[in-house]
Amino acid sequence: MWLKKVVREDLKSVGKYRYGKPIEELQRELGFEKIVKLCSNENPWPLPDSVKEAIIKGTSKVHRYPDPGSYLLRKRVAAKWGVSPQEVIIGAGTEGILHSLFHAIINPGEEILLPTPTYPLYKLAAIAASAKCVEVNAKDEDYWAIEDLISHCSENTKALVICNPNNPTGKMLKRSEMLKLALELENRGILLIVDEAYAEYVEDAAYLAGVELFRQVGRVVVIRTFSKIYGLAALRVAYAIAPKVIVDAYDKTHPVFEVNSIAQKAAAAALMEEEYIKEVRLKTIAERKRILDSLMELGMQTVNTCANFLLIKHAKSDLIYDLLLKEGVIVRKGSDLGLPGHLRVSIGLPEENDKFLTSLKKVLTSVEL
Ligand SMILES: Cc1ncc(COP(=O)(O)O)c(C=O)c1O
Repeated sequence: MWLKKVVREDLKSVGKYRYGKPIEELQRELGFEKIVKLCSNENPWPLPDSVKEAIIKGTSKVHRYPDPGSYLLRKRVAAKWGVSPQEVIIGAGTEGILHSLFHAIINPGEEILLPTPTYPLYKLAAIAASAKCVEVNAKDEDYWAIEDLISHCSENTKALVICNPNNPTGKMLKRSEMLKLALELENRGILLIVDEAYAEYVEDAAYLAGVELFRQVGRVVVIRTFSKIYGLAALRVAYAIAPKVIVDAYDKTHPVFEVNSIAQKAAAAALMEEEYIKEVRLKTIAERKRILDSLMELGMQTVNTCANFLLIKHAKSDLIYDLLLKEGVIVRKGSDLGLPGHLRVSIGLPEENDKFLTSLKKVLTSVEL
């Protein structure tokens, strides 16, 4: 009997995170070496030499604890955005930051408002911190009306988390909408948390970097990761810009040595590689266009995005996902991300994208029989 009571009741309201299939898992299942992984929106391009060197150098110090204050990285992030180092959080990925941030801000009974469909980890992290989640679904398939979001705020709402551009829809809210949202929340004393994991891929001039909202409005936390365009997903490092009072509270809830020294050094080097970032951005955008054109030629219904992934709409998307796995290509099922009837495909290296396209052509012939 005690087994049923030993874990928290509120965890029953949320499922485990369904992560993209790891390459090694499919290798074990299929027994072949070459797998194309397009399911986790990573940067597939090789790292710049300076970052590789920082990683190698970092290995000589692994017998020492890392600097819990991430001094150098924090200073570089602060300089990049023109904020004080005391307004910067360095954490173990966006995921690590969210967990500790929610633990730092949520009192019993408080709510987190989540415009959905969105990155499923917001809900998991909020519930882990004993928050109640209020989800507001996009009305018009993939857009939220700001008024609609605001109408779901209550006196218990602590924060709203928005992903801009959003995963999995790939759409972004424009400057005017973000400003309106931030001001409406500010008037109600609600914190706005903006996850900008894909910001570097945006081309639209109407995009507003959240740090501007932080400067103008104040009650804002902006999170950016080194897992996407900076190419450091395995090292688990991200940062947030937040009011000092939140940074101070965060320092009491996060695991003290959570960001290892190799990650700190690599991220500090990566932040200086502006040319590399520009190049990866342009190559990714060009590949995204090339894949979209090919998909259109195949008669597929696609959704363009402003991130390093695209969406395919298909009634048999889950079946296509399974058949692509058998070809050694891993994409992501929209149904795992609150977007059934879709496949989310990360933009890989040109040869990986070619393999995806040829496999898809092959798979479609059997699906459409
Ligand atoms: C919306 C969003 N935020 C953040 C991340 C990155 O998380 P992390 O920094 O924990 O690697 C992802 C990765 O898929 C994501 O989709």
